[in-house]
Amino acid sequence: MSAEEVPFHLKGNFAPVEKEVTGTDLRVEGALPPELSGMYVRQSANPVTGTSGHWFMGEGMVHGIRVENGKALWYKNRYVQTPYVDNPDVQRISDQGVIDFKVSKANTSILKHNGQILALEEGSFPYVLTDELDTVGPTDFDGGLKCAFAAHTKVCPVTGEMISIGYGQLPPYLTYVRVSPEGKVAQSTEIDIPAPVMMHDMAMSENHVLFLDLPIRFSLEDALGGTMPFAWSDEHDARIGVMPRTGGNADVKWFSIEPCFMFHTLNAYDEGDTVVLDTCRSTAIWRKAGEMAGDSELSFYRYTCNMKTGAVKEEKLFDRRVEFPRVADERSGQKQRFGFCLDLGDNSDMEQPDFRGNLKINFETGETQIHETGPGRNSTEAVFVPAEGADPDSDEGYVMSYVHDENTGKTDFVVLDATDMTKDPIAKVTLPQRVPYGFHGNFIAD
Ligand SMILES: [Fe+2]
Repeated sequence: MSAEEVPFHLKGNFAPVEKEVTGTDLRVEGALPPELSGMYVRQSANPVTGTSGHWFMGEGMVHGIRVENGKALWYKNRYVQTPYVDNPDVQRISDQGVIDFKVSKANTSILKHNGQILALEEGSFPYVLTDELDTVGPTDFDGGLKCAFAAHTKVCPVTGEMISIGYGQLPPYLTYVRVSPEGKVAQSTEIDIPAPVMMHDMAMSENHVLFLDLPIRFSLEDALGGTMPFAWSDEHDARIGVMPRTGGNADVKWFSIEPCFMFHTLNAYDEGDTVVLDTCRSTAIWRKAGEMAGDSELSFYRYTCNMKTGAVKEEKLFDRRVEFPRVADERSGQKQRFGFCLDLGDNSDMEQPDFRGNLKINFETGETQIHETGPGRNSTEAVFVPAEGADPDSDEGYVMSYVHDENTGKTDFVVLDATDMTKDPIAKVTLPQRVPYGFHGNFIAD
């Protein structure tokens, strides 16, 4: 392969790192707030063979930094020990067409529920990790889980339930899964959709779950070609399905919307007769299967679904290339005052990323505030961690992410004061190894 033929996801800071390393007693520039006690951990796709057919297809590697009492105790990167790590050619579908959900890339996101740290990828079962980032193994929640489990599973701060979906290429194309606070599958319900689609994210309000039936359909041809087996379809109606969280297929109200794709939702909430979805929205993507660049436009939208009248209002809240939207865990499913996104800059060329900083959105005033990371410094998804005792509606707290410096080849763990994103970071820790541009993370508090 000549240099020009190497795809973006194998070059620069998208490229995999070769080693699992551990660094201890890391130097902190500035001051880590002593109240932060826990681990910031983020996923990336790090192909064990050094190559993969798509950015999303490498094996899951977690990059974690442990902070406590103002100190950065360690950084570690570890593969999630899935069957692919030992054998990249392992088959997840048997000759009889049965899917082995234990065969996962486990590369997309990570969260904690019921005391378990779960590494998630939407085609498979979750993988349990220890707080030292070692792999325990896959879980089906004591046999209750019979389908894939979404990477963008939500945890309800009110009930402690975990709300998820599993989607598949064979019927049932969609299954709704509700996991009890004690980690048991309380509900597993098939939902009718007309064709197999990619449903990367979903949304949860206090009383409803939202399904995103959007025009990215499964393509067997692309699957056989070894790339992302999904592509845009003009034949497929774009719809949002809203269902009571304890409801069934017959209770889903479907709202047809203008064709689009939503990789990531920020949040949803109930308001009177409506269910509101705040989300990043792309116009048509992947006319060629899995092609990341292209003429797709990205902006931030609000969909207001009226459960009484069946009408949906589609509003562009602002025009800015933002993605990786996040809301405080305590506001998940509740009307949020603040949200956070990664600003992708004006340049959609993944060969020359310009992830210029992290944006705070005030949904009450419509104002935004950006933390710009500086020339050549690319940020990634940021998570918000509330300050101790802060009002859950306030922005009192910390915003943390990994920021990569293209000039030095080094990656920093960066902590911002969320009340004023324009200020310099309050703490910065340069890591012993670069962290490739990846996907989703969380701060897992002690
Ligand atoms: Fe995602």
